[in-house]
Amino acid sequence: MPFILETIVATKNADGSFHVRPYGLHQDGEDWIFLPFRPSPAIENVERHPYLTVSAPSDVRVIAGLLTGRDVVETVPADVIDGVRLKDTTGHLELEAISFVDHELRPRFRCRVLHQAAHRPFVGYNRAQAAVLEAAILSTRLGMLPQEKVETEIEYLRIAVEKCAGAQEQEAWDWIVEKIEAHYRR
Ligand SMILES: Cc1cc2nc3c(=O)[nH]c(=O)nc-3n(C[C@H](O)[C@H](O)[C@H](O)COP(=O)(O)O)c2cc1C
Repeated sequence: MPFILETIVATKNADGSFHVRPYGLHQDGEDWIFLPFRPSPAIENVERHPYLTVSAPSDVRVIAGLLTGRDVVETVPADVIDGVRLKDTTGHLELEAISFVDHELRPRFRCRVLHQAAHRPFVGYNRAQAAVLEAAILSTRLGMLPQEKVETEIEYLRIAVEKCAGAQEQEAWDWIVEKIEAHYRR
């Protein structure tokens, strides 16, 4: 199994704006493999403009907000590529996609690191942030997973949120839970 980095990827849209979403990048030696599921604007974006950034958000509301239609992203220009990164990030990478393997479901872009920078010291893990991340991933797979599994996992993850969340983590959690509950009410 590869090491997978759960992060925020920014790719350039045809109109010059940026598409910013959470994705998992798979490590392969010094390279990173970007695997967006079809359909995704990120695929056409990287085919047209093969430069992307990955940023780790300091605030998990960025992850939850992007998946629940909230305007939570502040970006700044990247350092060496034509791209943007999250403004509030512990660190970021700037990547060039150097090869593309097409696939009907999940094409693969192999990406090389052109530049990396750290912006804040990383001083420890937080269980509520990890729980929000897990719940966020679950919330993107509701059509694929049995409802009972999702609900059981949410109840388990809730323990870490109740014990360890700050205000940001609690708000992000609430957004994700609201999304999941709305899905099952439909
Ligand atoms: C932590 C995390 C990792 C994710 N990794 C991927 C991924 O590798 N590929 C993917 O297509 N979607 C991934 N998703 C789901 C996408 O973020 C979500 O489906 C998003 O709406 C995709 O936007 P798009 O359809 O514009 O590509 C991930 C979500 C989270 C929260």
